[in-house]
Amino acid sequence: MDPHTNGNTARSVKENFTDFETINLATVKVPPFPGPKTPDEASKIFEKMRNYDRIIIGSPVYFSGISGLTKTMIEWESTQPRDFLTGRRIVAFIRGMSANPSVDQPAYAIIKNFADYAGATFTTI
Ligand SMILES: Cc1cc2nc3c(=O)[nH]c(=O)nc-3n(C[C@H](O)[C@H](O)[C@H](O)COP(=O)(O)O)c2cc1C
Repeated sequence: MDPHTNGNTARSVKENFTDFETINLATVKVPPFPGPKTPDEASKIFEKMRNYDRIIIGSPVYFSGISGLTKTMIEWESTQPRDFLTGRRIVAFIRGMSANPSVDQPAYAIIKNFADYAGATFTTI
């Protein structure tokens, strides 16, 4: 079994938030971008995001950035209309092993870019 389906990131989110719906990208299997059309797996994720005011994007730090799974989902955002999450708040939740916050900085920039494209506000916790 892939341990990351219930790894540190999933566990930390549960410790910090209550009453939320989880989409674990380790189980969804969104194919890499690009492709001939937006995969259903990605469309469903963006559709769900539209149903909520607050969307937490949690990712482990892998080699100084967000995980490949998270980046793939973000790249598929380019197939959505701009500002499709207007009025929502995107919360970046990034966990690595290193105590040096500069390691995580590019990861936050990518998720902020995701929020900017979607017309959502961006915060970290
Ligand atoms: C492939 C890989 C690369 C990693 N690279 C970093 C890194 O560059 N910086 C860091 O602080 N932690 C790094 N880590 C540690 C993970 O970010 C940390 O263990 C995280 O809590 C794992 O979350 P997960 O259990 O949800 O996958 C790495 C772990 C793995 C497996």
